[in-house]
Amino acid sequence: MSAILEVENVTKTFGGVIANNNVSLSVPQGSIIGLIGPNGSGKTTLFNSIVGYHPIDSGAVRFQGAELSRMRTPQIARLGLLRTFQQTRIFGKMNCVQNMQISLPHVNDNFATMLRKFPPEVTERAENLLEFVGLYPKRHLRAADLSFGQQKLLEFAMALMNEPAALLLDEPTAGINPTLINGLIDRLKRANAEFGITLFVIEHNMRVIMNLAQHIYCLAHGELLADGPPEEIQNDRRVIDAYLGAH
Ligand SMILES: Nc1ncnc2c1ncn2[C@@H]1O[C@H](COP(=O)(O)OP(=O)(O)OP(=O)(O)O)[C@@H](O)[C@H]1O
Ligand SMILES: [Mg+2]
Repeated sequence: MSAILEVENVTKTFGGVIANNNVSLSVPQGSIIGLIGPNGSGKTTLFNSIVGYHPIDSGAVRFQGAELSRMRTPQIARLGLLRTFQQTRIFGKMNCVQNMQISLPHVNDNFATMLRKFPPEVTERAENLLEFVGLYPKRHLRAADLSFGQQKLLEFAMALMNEPAALLLDEPTAGINPTLINGLIDRLKRANAEFGITLFVIEHNMRVIMNLAQHIYCLAHGELLADGPPEEIQNDRRVIDAYLGAH
């Protein structure tokens, strides 16, 4: 399978902290790939580096052949590469449909366009995707009035609104109760299988990531420690010592 996303020797420092040290990895087109590692091991930093949230010190990031490391986040989003956040980024005072509408990249680029009327096909698409994540009955509720788990589902639906080719998910199940987690795993798998969206997922929940990912990378102290299929990673002595042993 050819790679949709390639990270090559990426290093990112913050002052004296080396958050990512010479990290290389590859995400095949159409796959679900996991990223695990202890707190502070550089997972979120790597996602930020990939989507142009900050400049990297050295290395390269390629997405569908395009070199991203000098591009900024909105430009990368337009290429079809999106990420969600560890903490949700939704507008609490707007209802679900409105949040979906303003999630389109051309709207984010220009705040003034938020004020214009949305064509009915955008609203219809928003409602279809809210149905897909199970939030259709809540579509007119203010986002602030959703439960935390429902807000995460909304954030996922907002990302789908943009029809991404690949989606980076930063701890999608954190803070979600076990019943809703199963629903979310199912939605992620369906987005991958039915919409063809490649997923690259940071998770601390081992049950989730072992169930979801075809291949898992493990970071420790900013460096790639190991990678392999879930069953191999679960039994990898280095991963157990650095991370799983403490879980
Ligand atoms: N903007 C920043 N300025 C300074 N240091 C930062 C910044 N962002 C991250 N770091 C540091 O980089 C290191 C990696 O942090 P990062 O958030 O990438 O870890 P993580 O693997 O996502 O951890 P967690 O599992 O807790 O979310 C940490 O030491 C963190 O303090
Ligand atoms: Mg993080």
